[in-house]
Amino acid sequence: MNGYKIVICGGGSTYTAGIVKDLIDQKDELGIRELWLYDIDKERQDTVAVVVKAVIDDLAPEIPLHVTVDPKEAFTDANFVMAQMRVGGLKMRIQDEQISLRHGVVGQETCGAGGMAYGMRTIFPMCELVDFCEEYACKDYWIVNYSNPAAIVAKAMHKLRPNARILDICDMPVEIEARMAEILGCELSDIEVDYFGLNHFGWFTNVRCKGVDVTDKLKEHVRKFGYISEASLNDALVKDPDWAHTFKNAATISTLFQDYLPNTYYQYYLLPDACVEYMDINNTRGMQVVNGREKRIFDASAALKRGEKVDLTQFYVGVHGRFIVDVVKSLAHDLRHRQLVIVPNNGAIENLSDDATVEIPAYITDRGAEPVRVGKIPRFYKGLIEQQDACEGLVVEAVIEGSYQKALEAFTLNRTIPSARVAKEVLDDMIEANKGYWPELK
Ligand code: NAD
Ligand code: G6P
Ligand code: MN
Repeated sequence: MNGYKIVICGGGSTYTAGIVKDLIDQKDELGIRELWLYDIDKERQDTVAVVVKAVIDDLAPEIPLHVTVDPKEAFTDANFVMAQMRVGGLKMRIQDEQISLRHGVVGQETCGAGGMAYGMRTIFPMCELVDFCEEYACKDYWIVNYSNPAAIVAKAMHKLRPNARILDICDMPVEIEARMAEILGCELSDIEVDYFGLNHFGWFTNVRCKGVDVTDKLKEHVRKFGYISEASLNDALVKDPDWAHTFKNAATISTLFQDYLPNTYYQYYLLPDACVEYMDINNTRGMQVVNGREKRIFDASAALKRGEKVDLTQFYVGVHGRFIVDVVKSLAHDLRHRQLVIVPNNGAIENLSDDATVEIPAYITDRGAEPVRVGKIPRFYKGLIEQQDACEGLVVEAVIEGSYQKALEAFTLNRTIPSARVAKEVLDDMIEANKGYWPELK
């Protein structure tokens, strides 16, 4: 049979069923020979696989599904690996959030102390994934990586596995573009953006709808309502009160800084005090995911096992799956689709260092991402970005060198942490909580 062997690494993820639906939607353009799920947690993956199997049986029963915890089996002759591992699981996510909040700082999955802790857990498992692919996969394999914190993961892979065929991506800009399309009353595919920054730390500098500049129109809307509009009220993601709050918060930031339109993640860096006030240590985002997205997939699996019918469309939400499948398709068939991806700067942003890990538009070819030139950026944005990139660079070096000092410097440089004293206190608690995940810091 023709087509590609596609592996989802982190098969037990709450997102797997949704991604598989989008793979099926584009199966003819992409070409799928077989689909594999790989995870280190057999029980979790087997649970999720019941739902994935139901999706396949429903929509494309001809696609063979294999489920394994054996890396050799999973990656042998693999063409494309979609990575979405959460090292330490949602349990450690909640721990990151609560430790941070206990010290009065932002408790978040990818930003601030929680993001750095998560990054320090994820670097070596991602190296291991690259090594599996180098050993077992097809020579021209591609890993398309969602595993967070994508900024730190990307930076670490560029340093530790510079020849790896890995492309790091994030769905947040595309989710924002979907909100922009709702505001404008057009399709997501009509939207094209210019953008610069780091992952979860970027700005839209220009937005076009069918080639027409709509930036000022959008700015006016976002200053008043954030990225929320009448049309978005029916959107599955916006129906989640936490996400609605996040999309609304863009109003404050875009009123304070009117040059560009912000990525929603700037709320944690530019309004950390307001975010801490909003966050609830007894109902963190990680807890909401456990009681929401994770519970829904577990319940569906149990119901299917009992032979009951389940509404599978509840897992087909957002643009998350569509985006990663589009990137894979463009890599596979040299489509040169223009997407925002995370790459080494190498001169794209002229006045940033080459080794900054930037998120910018790129054409996705069968040789990888071909980034566009961004040019020079103004001092305020450059200052913000250089500080955050230095912070993320120090996180990576702290892990590689096992350096306490570099970890302390990283925590101190992060905008969400107000002082070196707080940085040290949070770091010391994170070290305790991450025993067995982090290298020993000396
Ligand atoms: P989840 O905990 O439900 O799923 C993650 C899975 O990864 C689990 O089944 C776990 O056992 C597995 N895993 C952990 N370590 C592994 C390893 N070393 N090898 C293989 N599998 C491993 O988490 P989720 O909420 O579904 O999110 C999955 C990942 O996708 C997270 O990293 C999340 O941050 C990320 N994500 C990224 C973006 C983005 O924009 N880049 C968007 C959404 C989700
Ligand atoms: C967006 C971001 C991801 C992040 C996710 C968290 O999609 O781009 O990087 O992992 O949100 O969503 P959650 O619902 O788990 O808080
Ligand atoms: Mn992201």
